[in-house]
Amino acid sequence: MEQKIQKSIEDFSKAINEVTDTQSLEEVRIKFLGRKGLYAQLFEEFKSLPKEEKPKYGKVLNVAKNQAQQKLDEVKKNLESQSSESVSKFDFSLPGRRRSIGTKHILTQTLDEIKSIFVKNGFSVYQGPELESDHYNFESLNFPPDHPARDMQDTFFVTENFVMRTHTSPVQIRLMEKEKPPLRAIMPGKVYRNEAISAKSYCLFHQVEGLYVDTDVTFAELKGTLVDFARQFYGSKVKYRFRSSFFPFTEPSAEVDIWWQPEGKEGRWLEILGCGMVDPNVLKNVNIDSEKYTGYAFGMGVERIAMLKYGIDDIRLFYDNDKRFLDQF
Ligand code: PHE
Repeated sequence: MEQKIQKSIEDFSKAINEVTDTQSLEEVRIKFLGRKGLYAQLFEEFKSLPKEEKPKYGKVLNVAKNQAQQKLDEVKKNLESQSSESVSKFDFSLPGRRRSIGTKHILTQTLDEIKSIFVKNGFSVYQGPELESDHYNFESLNFPPDHPARDMQDTFFVTENFVMRTHTSPVQIRLMEKEKPPLRAIMPGKVYRNEAISAKSYCLFHQVEGLYVDTDVTFAELKGTLVDFARQFYGSKVKYRFRSSFFPFTEPSAEVDIWWQPEGKEGRWLEILGCGMVDPNVLKNVNIDSEKYTGYAFGMGVERIAMLKYGIDDIRLFYDNDKRFLDQF
């Protein structure tokens, strides 16, 4: 008898541990505690024991049965609370949670727009490295050795001979070295300047360089291309001016200003690009016959162009990654 009771305890504990749902629980209940279950049978057997043995087993058998019943109730309660919990926690009537979708950065949007205008006008897109040798960034562009742009104050020198490019003009040289005229391309990218950071200047910004080299390219064509760009980008009523200027790699040179008129404030001219006819010395440096070919070039500041279009008054906003700013575009 003792062995049977012991075995019943072990069997029950094994069975109850395997219970996963109310159905398997009910099976265990019937098998062990049902009217014809294991414990009912053991009590039957107990009745026919000799009188002297009864006290010895009666208590153990009762305890085993009660413990089984207790454990069964416990498991039952757990199963019930689990299912009611998961049901009550999930409210099917709640609206779905909206996920915010990223957008293109305003500079990327502006660059895309600039690119699409020039691509429509027959320009291809070309790119060059941000780390440049002194040769490409300055020398081949006709900068004299003592030019102020070569000063440590303006340029990030990585080594004595390598700089973070200060403009996208070195890409002109790379393109002219690689391909023969006629050439018509824009060259977008990041440029770096060692300047004090303020609302107006940042250590990094973007430029889009343009180059057109062919026989008989004229300043009038340069002007026509840039005016067409300004009208497409800012609208046909845009107010612009060409102002004469100087760059070592173009002759003659000019800068283009756009009239900026903030609401209720005084308007003013803002410079958006430099341009000019490619200096014959530059063509010589890349073995293009300057008697046969002429060219124009321009370089525009993308941040400036975007600031004007969207009325942004601090260049640092482009680089702060503040969602309140970025979400406006
Ligand atoms: N590279 C000049 C700058 O960074 C701009 C420029 C490009 C001027 C091409 C003339 C021609 O300011």
